[in-house]
Amino acid sequence: MEHLFSMEELSTEEIMRLVNRAIKFKNEGFRPFNDTKTVANLFYENSTRTKLSFEMAERQLGMNSLPFEVSTSSVQKGESLYDTCKTLEAIGCDALVIRHPENNYYDQLEGLNIPVINGGDGSGSHPTQCLLDLVTIYERFGRFEGLKVVIAGDILHSRVARSNQQALTQLGAEVVFSAPEVWQDASIDCPFVNLDDVIEDADIVMLLRVQHERHHEHESFTKEEYNKAYGMNQERYAKMKENAIIMHPAPVNRDVEISSELVECDKSVIFPQMTNGVYARMSILHELLSERPARIAPLPEEETAEDVSFTFSNAKKRGIALD
Ligand code: NCD
Repeated sequence: MEHLFSMEELSTEEIMRLVNRAIKFKNEGFRPFNDTKTVANLFYENSTRTKLSFEMAERQLGMNSLPFEVSTSSVQKGESLYDTCKTLEAIGCDALVIRHPENNYYDQLEGLNIPVINGGDGSGSHPTQCLLDLVTIYERFGRFEGLKVVIAGDILHSRVARSNQQALTQLGAEVVFSAPEVWQDASIDCPFVNLDDVIEDADIVMLLRVQHERHHEHESFTKEEYNKAYGMNQERYAKMKENAIIMHPAPVNRDVEISSELVECDKSVIFPQMTNGVYARMSILHELLSERPARIAPLPEEETAEDVSFTFSNAKKRGIALD
């Protein structure tokens, strides 16, 4: 794997390797990288969980994360995404984590020589959220084959819906969508159903946030209307199977997608999903970087200051020195 742009590009074997490594890191521990690698996290859209759990994963693996703030960077002077990324490559970053409002923004990055991890592109895909969801599901059920999954909510604007529907189907789960008509998306090959018709059979009810920031005025429902018609509430909760779970990528609109008192109910794995996010991201960083030497590294201890020319040739090998 050179980059992680979307789930579509991963084989089942690669997905399972990432999932199993995340679970192993969580249960058995892990070794940080031997040499210090540096990652920059570029978030052109707001984020709490994805950004901070990447930072946590990077710290746990003994990496440096370079602080980058879009609002105070040369992005404000009109610098392109490509030039910003090339700059970070030139100053020695080993990888970039990028969240961007444009679908497929990564198509602009051909010519970059360091791995990019997609932290979410517009309404396109969100592979690291998908992987942490897969880790959470696999941890609970020990399989994907035959699981019945309903993904409910704002499907049209959700990058989580797309990534999860694709990956879960590839892994053998039976996935259906449920959404108000305005947020259905005919471009995805997946049936839309009424939540009440599947709630009793579902192993996983994955709720998605109503994405107010991507909506037009006419698309809004009141909290009560939405929760009653499409959300998780006591009435639907009572119909769920004993071992079924409730997922949500968060942030949660309490009393909209899910009644507030159910956010931490027995079947909810919403906070465990966040915990698993750290291990899933560690697993991805490990996959992409463990075989690559750090692009900037201090002299090994046994070398003296006179050997400083070695650093230049090392730098050349690592692709950061000019020819
Ligand atoms: C999701 C996102 O940003 O796409 N959140 C997340 O990464 N945990 C879902 C959302 O914002 O609704």
